[in-house]
Amino acid sequence: MAVVLRGYLDRFAEAAQGYDGSTRHAAALEELLASYAQLVTDPANEPGYGQLAATESGTALVAALRTESARCVAVIEKYRALRLLEGRTAADGYFANIESCIAEEFGAVAPDAGSKVLLVGSGSFPMTLLNLASLTGATAVGIDIDPEALDLGRRVVEQLGEGLDIRLLGEEIDQLDFLHDVTHIVFSSTVSLKYELLHQLHACTRDDVVVAMRFGDGLKSLFNYPMQPVDPRLWQLTGTISQPGQVFDIALYTKAHTKTESN
Ligand SMILES: C[S@@+](CC[C@H](N)C(=O)[O-])C[C@H]1O[C@@H](n2cnc3c(N)ncnc32)[C@H](O)[C@@H]1O
Repeated sequence: MAVVLRGYLDRFAEAAQGYDGSTRHAAALEELLASYAQLVTDPANEPGYGQLAATESGTALVAALRTESARCVAVIEKYRALRLLEGRTAADGYFANIESCIAEEFGAVAPDAGSKVLLVGSGSFPMTLLNLASLTGATAVGIDIDPEALDLGRRVVEQLGEGLDIRLLGEEIDQLDFLHDVTHIVFSSTVSLKYELLHQLHACTRDDVVVAMRFGDGLKSLFNYPMQPVDPRLWQLTGTISQPGQVFDIALYTKAHTKTESN
């Protein structure tokens, strides 16, 4: 498995560096990510992953793959946005997979028209926000640290999200002045600091906020930042939505002192 994974690592590094604002390498990256998604969702690879992760060099390889594949996911969203904006569309295994996860995101605590949803790491193709806003009528806000992703994301929303209440902002979490109105928060799986940000959010969010943290453990941690323990005085894990065959799973958190229906 290590040999196969080193091959992916080289190709991811090359693909991320090869992004030049055009879509000429898009098809190759789509193919690469689709095959990687297949690898990380195939339970037959779990024992091989376990052996690899038990070694120091294996752990380093897994960490490097996580970082590089996250860069490539960000790049493929750019390709997808560019294709849409150029009047072409793309469908590939990876996105079919991501999109099929969206409906189940909050388990029983689904947003409705009165909800305000925040997505941390909205990316260049904010499909989660488009889906949530169009399915529920919720107000949706995405934040991202990448200015190019914000620019592309806004243009995608302009094109696909007519009439929907979606905003994309380049602000840090602690700069957002509407956090007390947010009812639902989604963390993109490939945001490396997601648990630090969750910790930070406790002080500035309402008591009944629900957090859907995308993550991947074990084999899936080759493609996702894994679940981490939370401070039990602040957050409680109220459930996990396991998605066999999907690239990430979802952990649901509420504030430790609140009682919700899922308790
Ligand atoms: C590619 S997108 C979404 C990918 C996928 N849908 C998922 O669940 O991971 C991830 C985005 O997160 C952004 N990002 C990474 N770290 C972040 C942070 N600390 N705050 C906000 N956005 C961040 C990246 O710039 C990238 O555009």
